[in-house]
Amino acid sequence: MRIEPAKRLRGRLGGLPGDKSVSHRAGLIAALARGTTRVSNYSTSEDCAATLRCLEALGLRLTREGETVTVEGAASSADSLAALRRPDAPLDCGNSGTTMRLLAGVLAGQPFETTLTGDSSLSRRPMRRVIEPLELMGARLGAEDGHAPLRVEGRRPLNPIAYEMAVASAQVKSCVLLAGLFARGTTRVHEPLAATRDHTERMLRWFGVPVESGVAGNIEGAGSEVSSGRVVSVEGGAALTARDIEVPGDISSAAFFVAAAALLPGSALEIAGIGLNPTRAGVLSTLHLLGAEVRAEGVRERCNEPVGEIVVRGGGGGRGGLAPREAGANILSGPLIAQLIDELPVLAVVGTQVEGGLEIRDAGELRVKESDRIGATVRNLRAMGAEVEEFEDGLRVGGPTHLRGARLDAHGDHRIAMAFAVAALAATGASEIEGARECVGVSFPEFFDLLESVTER
Ligand code: S3P
Repeated sequence: MRIEPAKRLRGRLGGLPGDKSVSHRAGLIAALARGTTRVSNYSTSEDCAATLRCLEALGLRLTREGETVTVEGAASSADSLAALRRPDAPLDCGNSGTTMRLLAGVLAGQPFETTLTGDSSLSRRPMRRVIEPLELMGARLGAEDGHAPLRVEGRRPLNPIAYEMAVASAQVKSCVLLAGLFARGTTRVHEPLAATRDHTERMLRWFGVPVESGVAGNIEGAGSEVSSGRVVSVEGGAALTARDIEVPGDISSAAFFVAAAALLPGSALEIAGIGLNPTRAGVLSTLHLLGAEVRAEGVRERCNEPVGEIVVRGGGGGRGGLAPREAGANILSGPLIAQLIDELPVLAVVGTQVEGGLEIRDAGELRVKESDRIGATVRNLRAMGAEVEEFEDGLRVGGPTHLRGARLDAHGDHRIAMAFAVAALAATGASEIEGARECVGVSFPEFFDLLESVTER
């Protein structure tokens, strides 16, 4: 993919494809409900298509017309807990960690054995984080060295557990909460490190399941040892009632446009209908603190999720001129990282144009995403002439720095491809990103066309 530098981004995007995290949950949770759910603005990503394919293989009746997916839930008046069908073959989760980890939670409560497979990237990602809690709940799991293929031998009912998470991961939390639907009693998940995205909690409530969530220490029965972070609990056996869902535009997709506009002086961009869940919107407040002119407008609630419009204006004077608004804004670390996890590569790119540069810490999880995102970001930034220091848990980039067009590598990772498409727009001279066209479809097939539609050269 060849990308020429841009002058600025201008225009209005009337919406973006549906949020990937919300779409996965909409499909999975609708499958467990009683009745028919219509999901509109379902994500166009390959990842979310993988979730639907797996559900079909589990006997679910689905129809898809464009971005509207209709799911006939598997629960009935006789059995409020959905009984899925044993699939004939392994379920292919493609590149999608969310599909594999969330589905494992659902399958733990089904009385049959299933195997979940994935592509070569997904087969390198850690699965022990879901194997451990699901085994504590009474399911049996198998994986070689903690990696897919992942065999899940489910059981019903499962044991309710109180689980303290060793990594800040919404996928693990969601896996345990979904399995908790098939447990006898209350399942609790404690997030001591950071509060991760809470779409599962919000969507379960939308379907009528009582889900409690609060600051640890204030939760009755959570145990006196639980003193920091958040605790989420779900009642097993609750009935889920189908209810239509409108998926908000994906803020993680919007982030690439917002970052590009923030970097290019003279830019003026509006993006409507974007999900602004506070556990996801950290990228907007971070860009603001780094000196960008970005704000959210017209925020309203849709299907338990806040949605609104993002308005962004191009950076300070000349190329490379974002001035942080506060001391310490140049260091991203601690619990904030969970809220920025998918946006860190593009924030590192933005960091090259910030006075004082940018440091990212406590982000070791980035090494086990679709690629080693720390390594991939560092190598590509260096290729463009940036000064970068690499740490096991992050990186430090100097700024403001002149970026020059270069040969870059997407490392087969959609978010690396899009982050460096943004870098290429802000560089001098053309760049080529190896493998970019092929991988953006994992989350955002329309990315390059939409970007072109608002780019001025
Ligand atoms: C996701 C959670 C995050 C994120 C991923 C989607 C989700 O992963 O990186 O893109 O939908 O729950 P972890 O929970 O593993 O951090």
